[in-house]
Amino acid sequence: MLAVITGGDRGIGKAIAIDLAKNGYDIVFTYRQNKEKAKETLEELKNYGNAEYYRMDVTNWEEVQKIFKEIGEKYEKINVLVNNAGIVGKYIFLEDITLEDWHRVMNVNLTGVFYCCKAALPHLKKAKGCIVNISSIAGKMGGTVGCHYAASKAGVIGLTFALASELAKYGIRVNAVAPGPVDTELLSKELKEKLKELALLKRIAKPEEIAHAVRFLIENKYVTGEVVDVNGGRYMD
Ligand SMILES: NC(=O)c1ccc[n+]([C@@H]2O[C@H](COP(=O)([O-])OP(=O)(O)OC[C@H]3O[C@@H](n4cnc5c(N)ncnc54)[C@H](OP(=O)(O)O)[C@@H]3O)[C@@H](O)[C@H]2O)c1
Repeated sequence: MLAVITGGDRGIGKAIAIDLAKNGYDIVFTYRQNKEKAKETLEELKNYGNAEYYRMDVTNWEEVQKIFKEIGEKYEKINVLVNNAGIVGKYIFLEDITLEDWHRVMNVNLTGVFYCCKAALPHLKKAKGCIVNISSIAGKMGGTVGCHYAASKAGVIGLTFALASELAKYGIRVNAVAPGPVDTELLSKELKEKLKELALLKRIAKPEEIAHAVRFLIENKYVTGEVVDVNGGRYMD
């Protein structure tokens, strides 16, 4: 069983890769620029089974096509695709967000997910596989890191719903996880400190807690078109 995880060298993607490796999956993960981290993560993954990495920028359609073709030829099929790679913008407020910043966030967080789903589809079909997209609480209620990030993550939820409907005929399930703040390098220390107060559980999530939800969506064969919240009770009062 092969799981492909985008942005798997660090943060949530790394936790997902390790969790799935521990549960018997062969792992292919991608990274964009952090080769040192990718090498470290690969070494760790090899303790659990087969793993390899590719350098891939999810915003580069030619590169995404080429790499999924290579993976498909090598492994014959893809059982699981986790679209995890994502960024926050440089700016937070509408007045400050430049057009460049807007497009960068949308390209990585939304268009990148579309590219990977499209390029992986022939290989997912062969496995009757599944897709898990990493959205965000920001995609459901705006969040704190800007309208471009929120819009991109809401877009991921729309993409998830539409693809769940469309791809069910191939036996492919499509779901998403919407984490609240997670302890990774994506958010600044100050923001993490502030955000932990907003959760009922008074802390932010560990990456492993997001990985756990991802595995649930992979393993439960009767769930599709679903967005699972993992946010420490953020919606409660
Ligand atoms: N942390 C949170 O609080 C939080 C909350 C909700 C949702 N999320 C979502 O969870 C996902 C993972 O976030 P994280 O916190 O683990 O972030 P992170 O620690 O900053 O890691 C981001 C990952 O995405 C990769 N990446 C960035 N731009 C890319 C591109 N253009 N092409 C390919 N890969 C790219 C990075 O690769 P390099 O290492 O090579 O740069 C890295 O592996 C993101 O989609 C994020 O929006 C995070």
